[in-house]
Amino acid sequence: MSTFQTYTDIDALDTEFQHLIHKAKEALGKAYAPYSKFHVGAALLLENGTVITGSNQENAAYPSCMCAERVALYAVASLHPGAVITKVAVVARKKSGKDLIPVTPCGPCRQVMLEFETRQQQPLGVVMLASEHEWVVAPSAASLLPYCFTKDNLHPEH
Ligand code: THU
Repeated sequence: MSTFQTYTDIDALDTEFQHLIHKAKEALGKAYAPYSKFHVGAALLLENGTVITGSNQENAAYPSCMCAERVALYAVASLHPGAVITKVAVVARKKSGKDLIPVTPCGPCRQVMLEFETRQQQPLGVVMLASEHEWVVAPSAASLLPYCFTKDNLHPEH
């Protein structure tokens, strides 16, 4: 059973997560979200210390919108192929707001994180403001997707 750690105080998080939250906050300033007005930032820490960020990018054709997490994840795959992602932070703010508001990765983003985790054979931790004043650290992408579907389901013989 995976353990989710919860923190009411951001200062109680490890310094890498605190730094990533800071970078994710910077990234949400680059969101293009005129439709939802819900700005999301994601920051990914690579094993070599590099931080890659992403923000949500919307479109008048709504299904073409892309979440901040996947923007950042696919940027890692494109710019740093083979890099191992150790930690992820995701934060959100309303366009009109000053404070962070709760956000947790959507289902497709969890599934994409899982693909990266499976490829790198190393868990990636995810920090998110799950509800007001509650930071949650998930130890892995798999912990966010019980009974998940992976390549092992597609090719069980391998
Ligand atoms: N969004 C993200 O970027 N990440 C999430 O984890 C949840 C949702 C974006 C997609 C869309 O631009 C807006 O938030 C409202 O759903």
